[in-house]
Amino acid sequence: MGVEIKTFTGPAILPHIEAVGKLRIEVFRAFPYLYEGDMAYERSYLHTFASAKNNVLVLALDGEAVVGASTALPLAEESENIKAPFQDYHVPMEEIFYFGESVLLPHYRGRGIGVQFFEEREAFAERRTNMQLMCFCGVVRPEDHPLRPSHYQPLNQFWENRGFRQTDLYCKIAWQDVDKEEETDKQLRFWTKKIKR
Ligand SMILES: CC(C)(COP(=O)(O)OP(=O)(O)OC[C@H]1O[C@@H](n2cnc3c(N)ncnc32)[C@H](O)[C@@H]1OP(=O)(O)O)[C@@H](O)C(=O)NCCC(=O)NCCS
Repeated sequence: MGVEIKTFTGPAILPHIEAVGKLRIEVFRAFPYLYEGDMAYERSYLHTFASAKNNVLVLALDGEAVVGASTALPLAEESENIKAPFQDYHVPMEEIFYFGESVLLPHYRGRGIGVQFFEEREAFAERRTNMQLMCFCGVVRPEDHPLRPSHYQPLNQFWENRGFRQTDLYCKIAWQDVDKEEETDKQLRFWTKKIKR
């Protein structure tokens, strides 16, 4: 059986919080995120996401198993640290749609599911909101980071192929790295793309 892509919004997201939290912890453990996950934090973060207006969750399902997930919501519904770089931006905050994570188990990569995650969220932004711009941010790690695998391929080309462009806007998000004892701030760089109307 193939992998099924399903899109959820509003309260329909709630039943999937546990599965998405577990998946985020598993996938984000790898470079470049190196996230030492914590299910209590995941539940709280994902409940906040599930309560936001105009939110969207795209799931990749192999039978009953959630093997991939992708999220988006209005930037105005996000936390202050993520909104901060857009305070004096030329596009009003209320007209920006924010893409959260895309996480897919390694076994399912390279067969177009990540592209579908973008297409589903972009279709939602175009049809279900009146926003002008989409954005997301990716973590910036030094080239010589000790935990960078030798075969590591950055996602920059993949994101450019989806029509997103790098900006000079950055935000900070704190989490505990797998090789650290406590949370540290990470720098994340924003990418943007205009919404076609
Ligand atoms: C980001 C991520 C979800 C991408 O998933 P993916 O399913 O492997 O990506 P895809 O297979 O859709 O796309 C990869 C390439 O393969 C191509 N591709 C391969 N098979 C394909 C198919 N059957 N149909 C369409 N495209 C296909 C895509 O077109 C794309 O190439 P392109 O950029 O030249 O167009 C995945 O790499 C991941 O989970 N990474 C770890 C977490 C992470 O870093 N997330 C991002 C920040 S939150």
